[in-house]
Amino acid sequence: MMGIGNDLIGGLEQLMAKRVLTSRHLFRMVGESSHCWKAEKEIEQMYPGMHCLLLPSATIGLSLILESLDLKSGQEVLISPFGWLSNWSSILRAGLVPRFLPLDDDLQLHKKAVADRINHLTGGVIVVHLMGRGQQAIAEISEICRKRGVILIEDIAQSFGVTVRGQRAGTFGEAAWCSLNHNKMISTGDAGFILVNDAHVFSLVSGLHDQGCLIHRGKRWRSGKTLRPGLSLRVNELTGAVLRAQLARYHYIRNRIQLLHTSLSKVCENQLNLEVLHSYNGDIPFTVLFKRPKKCSYPVLVDSGWHVAVNVPWLAEVYTESAKGDPAIAKTIEILAGTSAIGSGFIDPYYAIEMGLNITDSHDEVDELIERLKTII
Ligand SMILES: Cc1ncc(COP(=O)(O)O)c(C=O)c1O
Repeated sequence: MMGIGNDLIGGLEQLMAKRVLTSRHLFRMVGESSHCWKAEKEIEQMYPGMHCLLLPSATIGLSLILESLDLKSGQEVLISPFGWLSNWSSILRAGLVPRFLPLDDDLQLHKKAVADRINHLTGGVIVVHLMGRGQQAIAEISEICRKRGVILIEDIAQSFGVTVRGQRAGTFGEAAWCSLNHNKMISTGDAGFILVNDAHVFSLVSGLHDQGCLIHRGKRWRSGKTLRPGLSLRVNELTGAVLRAQLARYHYIRNRIQLLHTSLSKVCENQLNLEVLHSYNGDIPFTVLFKRPKKCSYPVLVDSGWHVAVNVPWLAEVYTESAKGDPAIAKTIEILAGTSAIGSGFIDPYYAIEMGLNITDSHDEVDELIERLKTII
């Protein structure tokens, strides 16, 4: 078993899936009774001002967003070198050029770091909210992007429900994408959704996802005016139904992760003398991040495979180009090489979160975990 929402799959998901199978309505475009449509409306309530659309993955979501926004081939997109390779590949596949942004010791992106790197070639900025931690400067970054005429889009694949100073991450820019794959906060095994604030851009993305058609009250709407070539990327009702069950678990997941994080951070500081990175109000931090002490065999974030740009062979050239004359980019990789993560709700050795607590673990397991950690840290 793995993942956060995935580990909690149980009676509710079974009930919802059974309802769909019993009804034999697996196709989503049935109207307002559709589970996909209802899930989209539930998500829109959490993300005021945004239009939501379910898709087969977050990667597809970003690709359709890049195709629908006003970006020109060859323009640059600023993004941090810590995230997931699908973002960098979607940028390249869209004919755009990724350029890297530095992160600080706290893995935060500063507004000045963005402002200093916007130039005449910049078309967009991507802010990635990782590990259930919101990027705290997102409001200021959004202001800079607006003033400089650059598109801001947000990756909330790992940060469903996170808020920054009371506003949801994912509502600061023109659009956002979230993943529902097996590792995420809430999960349907695979799939994702996008959030878009502009109704016209949303209609373009909707059209691309269903042969040019729009959705009206949960039904496919063939509108002559907007019809243009599109694909078939609809998700089916089983995904929508399981998603509604997972959405019902959201508050439990948030509370549980925050509790695990608070107690685990305390013991990491007090019993292991670790220098722990803060969590901020509104975070749902599923790892406790800490500065790795010298002489310790626990993995560091730079060991997390395709989460770090320098580990992706086809990004080598892009990385070298970004790092040229920009020591802050090399410094970011150094910071990732000196920072580690213990799970506070999620364990994944590939993500260098080798040990920790799962969402289903109880507080009693903290002591046993600390004893194990004492032997290696
Ligand atoms: C930060 C981040 N962005 C994007 C994605 C892509 O999500 P998906 O697998 O739904 O395409 C992931 C998935 O792991 C991710 O972690």
